Amino acid sequence: MIVLGLIGRSDRTWSHDAAACLVVDGVMVGALEQERISGRRHAMGESADDAALALLTAHGLTPADVDAVGYAWGAPAEEDIRRLGSPLPGDVAVSPDHIAGVLPSLGDRLRSREVMFFDHHLCHAAQTYYMNPHATADVLVLDGSGGDCSTSLFHVRDGDFRLLERHAAKHSLGILYEAAAYYANMGWNAAGKLMGLASYAAPSGRRLMTFDSATGAFGFEPGSPMPARLTSEDGDEIAKAWLGMFEEQVFPYSGRSGNVFDYAGFAADVQLTLEELGLSLAERLHRLSGADQLLLSGGVALNAHMNRRIAEAGWYRGVAGTVAPHDGGTAVGAAMLTAATLGEPVRPWSTEAGLPVMLGPAPGPLPAGLVADLGAAAVRTEPDKVRSEAVDVLARGGVVAWFDGPAEFGPRALGARSLLADPSRRETLDRINRIKGRAPWRPAALSMTAEGFTGLGLAEPLPGLSEYMLCAHPVAERGRRAAAAGVHVDGTTRAQLVPSGTSFGLLLDEFGATTGAAPALINTSLNTRGEPMVLYADQAVALMKECPEVDLLVTPEYLVRR
Ligand SMILES: [Fe+2]
Repeated sequence: MIVLGLIGRSDRTWSHDAAACLVVDGVMVGALEQERISGRRHAMGESADDAALALLTAHGLTPADVDAVGYAWGAPAEEDIRRLGSPLPGDVAVSPDHIAGVLPSLGDRLRSREVMFFDHHLCHAAQTYYMNPHATADVLVLDGSGGDCSTSLFHVRDGDFRLLERHAAKHSLGILYEAAAYYANMGWNAAGKLMGLASYAAPSGRRLMTFDSATGAFGFEPGSPMPARLTSEDGDEIAKAWLGMFEEQVFPYSGRSGNVFDYAGFAADVQLTLEELGLSLAERLHRLSGADQLLLSGGVALNAHMNRRIAEAGWYRGVAGTVAPHDGGTAVGAAMLTAATLGEPVRPWSTEAGLPVMLGPAPGPLPAGLVADLGAAAVRTEPDKVRSEAVDVLARGGVVAWFDGPAEFGPRALGARSLLADPSRRETLDRINRIKGRAPWRPAALSMTAEGFTGLGLAEPLPGLSEYMLCAHPVAERGRRAAAAGVHVDGTTRAQLVPSGTSFGLLLDEFGATTGAAPALINTSLNTRGEPMVLYADQAVALMKECPEVDLLVTPEYLVRR
């Protein structure tokens, strides 16, 4: 059975992070975000047509082969929608009337025009459950808003999802954090920037919102105007309520200061608030269920410092996330839930299949016309030669655009579409920040093999988190000196544990062997300011032409030299 899972609608302006997932006979074979094709970051108001078609084509399928479509948001409350009797928590509904919204260009070509709608947080939960190898687990969904809710606590056993507790949108961790980033002049979708800024100051100890793990109740600091302000479950209204409160009570009493560091103390307070909320919610879930494994999902699960504290709290033997905890990842949940509902034999991810990361379509070779245009700059080469050339450039302080095989799913570059540099040279971070149009104070992540963790004196990698850059790792003094450009001002790095034997792992090994340094590189996503990560090789060539500070583009078949 061929199943598509989707998030993103062209008939809803607030729709964002459109993505598609392809499941064949109960097994996830591909996932892709729409922004990679449309070129519009977060694909606001877009459906995932192009992503779905790219996945189908990559697997030798056409829209006519698709048996079923699942959507990762509850159905509109209309009378003509058929409600299914289902053991799943949350309404499951089927309608042919919304196919034009979720797949406007492909809908008419599908075998069935029916769309199956699932609860959004259930899709977040199913995404992390089916991308991890545990049959039994607790799932904590920490989101902006999933309709009228923001946080959901699940227990899952053998694909049987039970919703244990759910919290209202007005107590959203995600909306609080996003509003705080906006207040600090970082714009919307800037949570990662605020986390970086928080490391520049110590928190005052102020908690903007609290959660009691014994009673399951949210609260606010004494005298807070927030309980009175939170009169709506609408996400925009909740964000406005926080912004109004910041204007009244947070120094500087305006979101208009031009100095970003004026907001560092505020960012540190918001970060502390978030970490303690995440910790208390994980403790609450453990009280309610007590499974061995905790799986994280929702956009808030990208907060690497919060994740580390949850993992270290010790309530769970293991804490894991995935490559795509954000809304795009819910396409995976919708696809797997649709397949399961239709009787397909879906299972948690098999560890034998490697990590579910590089889920994009295979990119194909550089077009012949493009190679001809590049002339002497494009050099045909072999995989082993590719690595040694890349290491040579990196060791001389150069920046390498590394383009390798199917793209990563999700917001992180994990070794398929990366800009790489030597972390021992502080100036390489400045170069990368210039290429990316990022402020000089922004940190960069480090990718390394297990040997790199030891060599730089990092705390042990945390399986299930460190592979996806979901955990902040303290770095020993020797590592802070040796990899200064990849360690943040607070002495941590958002390290990626790169599996040995992979193409990226072999590059790191060769970098370490050649330079005598730890096998670790600065790794940021292969894009420029405001653009999504590149998907195809011709886009990578265009980026190189646009950015003179990129010294070498590496593709599996061709090197493109400056
Ligand atoms: Fe979500």
